[in-house]
Amino acid sequence: MTQAQLAQGTSPLLAVRDVSVVFGGIVALNGVSFDMHKGQILGLIGPNGAGKTTLFNCLSRLYQPSSGDILMDGVSILSRPPHRIAEIGIGRTFQNVALFPNLSVMDNVRVGAHSKTSSDIISDSLRLAWVRRSETGINKKVHEILAYLGLEDVAHTVVSGLPFGTQKRVELARALAADPKILLLDEPAGGLNHEEVYVLGALIRRIRDERHMTVLLVEHHMGLVMSIADHVVALNFGKKLAEGTPAQVQADPDVIKAYLGSKDQ
Ligand SMILES: Nc1ncnc2c1ncn2[C@@H]1O[C@H](COP(=O)(O)OP(=O)(O)OP(=O)(O)O)[C@@H](O)[C@H]1O
Ligand SMILES: [Mg+2]
Repeated sequence: MTQAQLAQGTSPLLAVRDVSVVFGGIVALNGVSFDMHKGQILGLIGPNGAGKTTLFNCLSRLYQPSSGDILMDGVSILSRPPHRIAEIGIGRTFQNVALFPNLSVMDNVRVGAHSKTSSDIISDSLRLAWVRRSETGINKKVHEILAYLGLEDVAHTVVSGLPFGTQKRVELARALAADPKILLLDEPAGGLNHEEVYVLGALIRRIRDERHMTVLLVEHHMGLVMSIADHVVALNFGKKLAEGTPAQVQADPDVIKAYLGSKDQ
């Protein structure tokens, strides 16, 4: 489906509407709007300080916008408490890997799967039948995800002993274990070498295609964004500078100007 058909034919899965964020006197985001459609890989780019992480943190409910709204399937997500965000189908990874370093790969992924279930401490301690049932489901899910991401061999390895690239894959596994509709990736290529970035790009596409996911990719690595994104939104100084296909955004004079003045390229 072309971008035009996407824009005209379907209502967006996620709608960012006039979102502003002010920290003290600093306007980190200034009236940003764009749509994300189901199945899209949307690249969010911009020079340092453009507002990418701030927007990402609004989408994952870490920050509350000062004004504007964020709608998922037409319903505002802003009244959702941040710890319930997995339940409505938003999963994320962190710019600086945020795993439990002393737990095994499998246990870290299990935490992700648990965030989607409704079991709590009381029912866990009573070991109600339905909790046991959901525990079996979680084990199945965890094994499936580990196999999908090629992490079976390190399933029982403590995370802190693994190479950085593998830790990033574990974080991706943890986010996927909650079966999100939208996967938010904050600089997944950061710290990876050329070969690893290439493999990551193929993996993100595969996840989108095979697991029917919609992906928001915040990334400094232009090669990765331009090769896998269907749609790109460029920010600068908290405002939307341009949006369109990778080719359109890359050729946009304002985008070129913004990047010439930065060290990002
Ligand atoms: N928690 C905060 N408190 C105060 N100011 C902040 C905070 N977070 C971000 N800012 C400011 O908001 C602006 C946007 O920052 P943000 O981190 O969103 O940019 P970015 O596009 O992610 O940049 P980078 O590419 O360097 O990661 C910057 O001027 C930054 O200094
Ligand atoms: Mg950032």
